Amino acid sequence: MKVTFLGHACFLFEEAGTSILTDPYLSGNPQASARPGEVNPSYILVSHAHGDHLGDAVDLSKRTGATIVSTAEVARACQEKGAKTHGMHIGGKKQFDFGYVRITPAFHGSGVAGGHACGFIFRLGEKTAYFAGDTGVFGDMELLSRLESIDLALLPIGDNYTMGPDDAVVAASLLKPKVAVPMHYSTWPLIKADPVEWKRKVESEVPGTEVMVVGPGQSIEI
Ligand code: NI
Ligand code: MN
Repeated sequence: MKVTFLGHACFLFEEAGTSILTDPYLSGNPQASARPGEVNPSYILVSHAHGDHLGDAVDLSKRTGATIVSTAEVARACQEKGAKTHGMHIGGKKQFDFGYVRITPAFHGSGVAGGHACGFIFRLGEKTAYFAGDTGVFGDMELLSRLESIDLALLPIGDNYTMGPDDAVVAASLLKPKVAVPMHYSTWPLIKADPVEWKRKVESEVPGTEVMVVGPGQSIEI
């Protein structure tokens, strides 16, 4: 599976003709390494409707026909604006043509009335990825690691709106992913964080987890 970081919390996962995009905040994102017109996802996973996550999702869905997968309330808000959507909710798992998606809790605002923010665990090709979305650390990350064997965890480290670096080390210790990638940091001064220092801490405190620091525009293969 090829994973490309497009900035902030936007990643493109590609495997065997399927491409999954997370939280496509590209327009107005000072870190964005692609313009909305340059990505052609099959699916768009939206963790919540804050502007730095919903981003260009609706326009991308309208242009490419990509299905937006999110919680029911966020999916409905996107559908009302003309996007193709599939609503799910926390704890639910669904098989798609590429693999499955499971919706996980996230402790954060949803950005729509009555909604929940979420994270995602999804299986694409032979790999299982956990995209935490915006969240604080929570003890049931350990439960997620019992339900799923996580190859790749994408974790926010920017603090203020989400967990910061020290809490994200604890998150990595609960999730026990083979690879962890930091996200949602240094987009603006308020969430500035040092990913190299975070890598050092995780790799010294969490045996079996490798941290890959991926800059905007860079790709990794896992
Ligand atoms: Ni948010
Ligand atoms: Mn955010």
